[in-house]
Amino acid sequence: MAKEPARVLVTGAAGQIGYALVPMIARGIMLGVDQPVILHLLDIPPAAEALNGVKMELVDAAFPLLKGVVATTDVVEACTGVNIAVMVGGFPRKEGMERKDVMTKNVSIYKSQASALEKHAAPNCKVLVVANPANTNALILKEFAPSIPEKNITCLTRLDHNRALGQVSERLNVQVSDVKNVIIWGNHSSSQYPDVNHATVKTPSGEKCVRELVADDAWLNGEFISTVQQRGAAIIKARKLSSALSAASSACDHIRDWVLGTPEGTWVSMGVYSDGSYNVPSGLIFSFPVTCQNGEWKIVQGLSIDEFSRKKLDATADELSEEKALAYSCLS
Ligand code: NAD
Ligand code: LMR
Repeated sequence: MAKEPARVLVTGAAGQIGYALVPMIARGIMLGVDQPVILHLLDIPPAAEALNGVKMELVDAAFPLLKGVVATTDVVEACTGVNIAVMVGGFPRKEGMERKDVMTKNVSIYKSQASALEKHAAPNCKVLVVANPANTNALILKEFAPSIPEKNITCLTRLDHNRALGQVSERLNVQVSDVKNVIIWGNHSSSQYPDVNHATVKTPSGEKCVRELVADDAWLNGEFISTVQQRGAAIIKARKLSSALSAASSACDHIRDWVLGTPEGTWVSMGVYSDGSYNVPSGLIFSFPVTCQNGEWKIVQGLSIDEFSRKKLDATADELSEEKALAYSCLS
């Protein structure tokens, strides 16, 4: 029997990530090729005409899975009945800016959209915040939507995770699909810690540790980390625009794995509400290694954390605590 359509909200849908993301959702890349969808697209009034253009193109593409499009500048209409909310709306960083610089503009959006989601989304709606500062926007959304369960509010660090897989695959000249279990710890910012200590590569003679195969700790503890941390800035420098297709694709990966589950023996990175695991202060949205089953994520426990990693985890947690304080000062 055909499934009921899932309602998927994309905010900032007239923007560049939105433009890359909505056809992916309509093709079944996010929720599966047997899952019909109704897209809810939200943007602000100055972008209304462009948003309508996106809606026209969605109609023109005749996606078999797409059962309807609600394109609106009304946040209540956009949020009503949605099962998945991908929050992309906001202002991107420009060359030379740090994510903190977009804080003032963006956190207030998340405070105001929190209550619309809380009141009008479907029960158990899963929320993914993409707009920067992603972790702190997600935290603000959580705090101003207290009736949405905290397990349902996440932020995107899957792009960083995928960037780390990509760097290892290029360095070892192996298929990216054969690399797994990298970890992004912490903030979606240049303080994040891309960790390969538990990552492996599938080889003809079994799974091997990335550290052994690379055999260059200086690279893994230096250039690899800074390349992943700075990749967003490198894309901005090259394109004069921030990443869009990779962000959209990673947002689909995040939701797909959350809803449909992670493969056996594989974890992914998600920004989730910290519960004190790995001595990360609770009360932050922090990127952890997670596995997903039956629509729920679980932080992978028991991984060894060496002294080098501990310092990096603490540094990114400190930055998130500072961002949280700054966000509250912007809102007061
Ligand atoms: P963009 O400027 O092309 O699009 C953003 C859209 O949001 C615009 O159409 C704008 O009108 C809309 N918008 C602004 N305020 C809004 C509001 N209150 N409600 C609804 N829509 C609103 O930007 P983009 O390149 O698509 O990037 C969007 C966000 O995603 C930025 O904050 C960017 O920094 C962030 N980003 C995050 C990641 C990640 O991995 N977490 C990766 C790339 C980009
Ligand atoms: C990215 O990581 O590409 C985005 O967060 C954009 C940015 O500002 O770095």
